[in-house]
Amino acid sequence: MGLRSGQWYGGDDRNAYIHRAWMRRGGPEDAFERPQIAIANTASDFTPCNSHLWEAARSVKNGVHERGGTPLELPVVSLGETQMRPTAMLWRNMAAMATEEMLRANPIDAAVLLGGCDKTIPSLLMAAASVDLPALVVPGGPMLTGTFRGRPLGCGTDVWRLSEEVRGGTLSAEDFTRSEASMIRSRGHCNTMGTASTMALVAEALGVVIPGVAGTPAPDSRLLQSAHEAGRLAVDMIAADRRPSTILTKASFHNAIVALAAIGGSTNAVVHLLAIAGRLGIDLTLDDFDRIGSRVPVLVDLQPAGRFLMEDLHRAGGLLAVLNEVRDLLAPDAVTVTGKPLVDYVTGNTVWDQEVIRPRAEPLVAEGGIAVLRGNLAPDGALIKPAAASPHLLRHRGRAVVFDSIEDFHARVDDPDLDIDADSVMVLRGCGPKGYPGMPEVSNMPLPRKLLEQGVRDVVRVCDGRMSGTAYGTVVLHVAPEAAAGGPLALVRDGDPIVLDVPARLIAIDIPAEVLAARTANQASLDAYASPTRGWERLYVDHVQQADTGADLDFLNGSSGSAVTRESH
Ligand code: FES
Ligand code: MG
Repeated sequence: MGLRSGQWYGGDDRNAYIHRAWMRRGGPEDAFERPQIAIANTASDFTPCNSHLWEAARSVKNGVHERGGTPLELPVVSLGETQMRPTAMLWRNMAAMATEEMLRANPIDAAVLLGGCDKTIPSLLMAAASVDLPALVVPGGPMLTGTFRGRPLGCGTDVWRLSEEVRGGTLSAEDFTRSEASMIRSRGHCNTMGTASTMALVAEALGVVIPGVAGTPAPDSRLLQSAHEAGRLAVDMIAADRRPSTILTKASFHNAIVALAAIGGSTNAVVHLLAIAGRLGIDLTLDDFDRIGSRVPVLVDLQPAGRFLMEDLHRAGGLLAVLNEVRDLLAPDAVTVTGKPLVDYVTGNTVWDQEVIRPRAEPLVAEGGIAVLRGNLAPDGALIKPAAASPHLLRHRGRAVVFDSIEDFHARVDDPDLDIDADSVMVLRGCGPKGYPGMPEVSNMPLPRKLLEQGVRDVVRVCDGRMSGTAYGTVVLHVAPEAAAGGPLALVRDGDPIVLDVPARLIAIDIPAEVLAARTANQASLDAYASPTRGWERLYVDHVQQADTGADLDFLNGSSGSAVTRESH
């Protein structure tokens, strides 16, 4: 079969003339007969974690040329986690939709996807899955470890920790500000096991990254070697007809879930993996995460659950060494972009530092994968990351202290008269996909100052939003349905007894069913929900689905393939 791009460039009619003529700017005469490789690049100065990807793109180009392809840069929507307000997640689906459309509309035979910051790899993979052209990811890699006063600083995690210390009175505001200059040591994405690191490693476990590449620090010369290799492979994947739909199967999602648990990865990976699976029509559910992942030991001792950072993980052997410890749990038949099974790359990898990658027999957390909770407070499910929680709170009963919105929370959290103690359960609603909108990372609410001053460092928190992958605490999040979609979270009142029982997978409000059924949603919480009238936010609120299925738009489920039958003239 001829190249897809041949439908644009082949022949001698007027349309082929137009497609070719405007592209004749310096390439060789036969450039149109070669495989056309798009480099979908999320580099942007507003996404500082990805800004070095321009350089990686050059290496990809060299690899494409070397294999006889024509490389073409395709700048795509880039989402910078730290810069965008109200939350980058509001546009993950927009970025995925825009990239999908650009990949389909242009004469492209395969794509190399360059991402790094939290939402960029998910949006690229969602797009590639829906177009189903040969594609692989080059993860941009984490930044090097910065230090402050002799101690390593973990991106994100230490911001949360240090800011709590300021609020608790154990760190001065001046020292807090001083640490800022040490937080970001180099190019690259956050160096904790936050969402960016998690999604890069999980993408490799899915099979869409050249095995052994994810986690390579951004400034490491091996990143450019890998980018070069990816350029070559993209050309090879066309002849092999290796596409997202042939690589991404239920078995590869199984491996991704095992990896997610073993690395102690971010809860955000759950919504992203569900959304990617949704684009492929793969029957992946929240329960798969609990069934496959919850009993997998956490082996990687990285912040926020542990001590080290991504540079240490790379030095200790990286993802393949981690997976070798749990090799028996992996699906043997899941293949990668190279055409070979993931397990073939896993066998025999050595752990070079057992402090960073623990042996299977001495895990950081014995059963550490993400647990899926249900109950009358979350009929469609909620998540908790036990590895980031306090063991003594995993079975807990306490009185609800309810906040109707993030604004309500900020207005009252430090009120000395707030009726709260260490046993209370903080409930925040109005932060789901529709309610906020965009599902921000606010579920790990900062504790009230008066509790911090008493030395309390964790209480149970329940929310329909997300939390940063770099955060920690006993936080029940992604509650579905969210309050704004009519979930029972909207019915909770101050003082209600809330029961959390992680071993029993329960999150419930302990009041009689008929009492709960007779309640109506609190008016203040309803008033707090945004109701956008135009633009992307309007489209988003009208069509976004709940967290338990990936928070994609309802009309973006599935694939449209790569066929375009009509011409422009
Ligand atoms: Fe970009 Fe953390 S802010 S990866
Ligand atoms: Mg984040």
